[in-house]
Amino acid sequence: MPYTSAAPVVSQYGDALAGKIIIDISNAFDPARTGLVTPDGSSAAQQTAKAAPAGAHEVKAFNTLFGHVLAADRAEGRPLDVFIAGDDAGAKARVSSFIESLALRPLDAGGLKMAHWLEGAGLLMVAPLGEAVNGHDFWLGINTLR
Ligand SMILES: NC(=O)c1ccc[n+]([C@@H]2O[C@H](COP(=O)([O-])OP(=O)(O)OC[C@H]3O[C@@H](n4cnc5c(N)ncnc54)[C@H](OP(=O)(O)O)[C@@H]3O)[C@@H](O)[C@H]2O)c1
Repeated sequence: MPYTSAAPVVSQYGDALAGKIIIDISNAFDPARTGLVTPDGSSAAQQTAKAAPAGAHEVKAFNTLFGHVLAADRAEGRPLDVFIAGDDAGAKARVSSFIESLALRPLDAGGLKMAHWLEGAGLLMVAPLGEAVNGHDFWLGINTLR
């Protein structure tokens, strides 16, 4: 769901999310795609985590992988990379297993505060640079070559 819906929905479910993993896939940029709408230095994932009950684990994942890139398999046979960020090692391990079950490759970017930079990368992919490189279909993806 979009960033603007995430915290209200997490609040709505409240304690039912205790012990659950919340995967934030959102990219929270402005309509002109010139900046992030989240508070300076924070991220959509961190903002949504504030609405979660104690014991829920927020993990950022998938926001640098666009749906049509995934569908088109443009990485020429290499597994597409899914960057993740989160503060709970167990939650990240479970999300990584899920990602691998999709024949994708999880790459751990660090703690949840790294979600800010992953969301910045998401913005880069749809900002004018992305369009300049890829045309309006923005086929740009972020993948390692190892
Ligand atoms: N599309 C991509 O390639 C891509 C890439 C990276 C990240 N993302 C992120 O993925 C998220 C979804 O993107 P999308 O392209 O799939 O958007 P989308 O096609 O507009 O779908 C949004 C979904 O969120 C649901 N939703 C919205 N508000 C809700 C609420 N209050 N309660 C329950 N469900 C709600 C909608 O349900 P209804 O249809 O029932 O309204 C819909 O299924 C966004 O955060 C986006 O930034 C997308």
